[in-house]
Amino acid sequence: MMYDDIEKILYTEEQIKQRAKELGQQIAKDYAGETIVMVCILRGSCIFFAELVKHIPNYVELEFITVSSYCSTNTSGEVRLISDISKPIQGENVLIVEDIIDTGYTLNYLKKLLLARNPKSLKVVTLLDKPSRRLVECESDYVGFEVPNEFVVGFGLDYDQKYRNYPHIGVLKKEIYSS
Ligand code: PRP
Repeated sequence: MMYDDIEKILYTEEQIKQRAKELGQQIAKDYAGETIVMVCILRGSCIFFAELVKHIPNYVELEFITVSSYCSTNTSGEVRLISDISKPIQGENVLIVEDIIDTGYTLNYLKKLLLARNPKSLKVVTLLDKPSRRLVECESDYVGFEVPNEFVVGFGLDYDQKYRNYPHIGVLKKEIYSS
């Protein structure tokens, strides 16, 4: 069972849902009267995305984009576009939804890519921020939780494609990823 691979829980499902609600309410306030194009970064942010959008009563369009880090973002910083959003975003309020900012390479790439399309505004919301791992400067407008430099999984975050369905944010046991 995947539960046996978890060292400890950092944030429970309940705490994450509460934080998503708070973030949603803040976003709704900041974008009052505006339509938002919310961009889900597949695959990690899909569960947070689904939770967050429920708390934003604005008119919202849901878009999906898939990027992949080439080998390891840690070393190369190379990010590839696998599949793009479905519509032009010129003149739109675009909000990127991430699960975690680690080195910053993914978000840096995405911000450049989407800014070049001349949106009215571009902001970022991330569930987790791990600033201690940053290799390129990268800021998020909204942050759920700042996390220490530990191997976190669950609520969409994976290790080797596993644990995305773990309902909480947990720290993976060292023997799982070091073996
Ligand atoms: C993870 C995560 C972020 C990115 C953050 O995605 O979902 O998008 O890494 O890391 P960075 O700040 O070092 O770029 P990953 O490439 O593992 O794909 P996934 O979303 O499918 O898990």
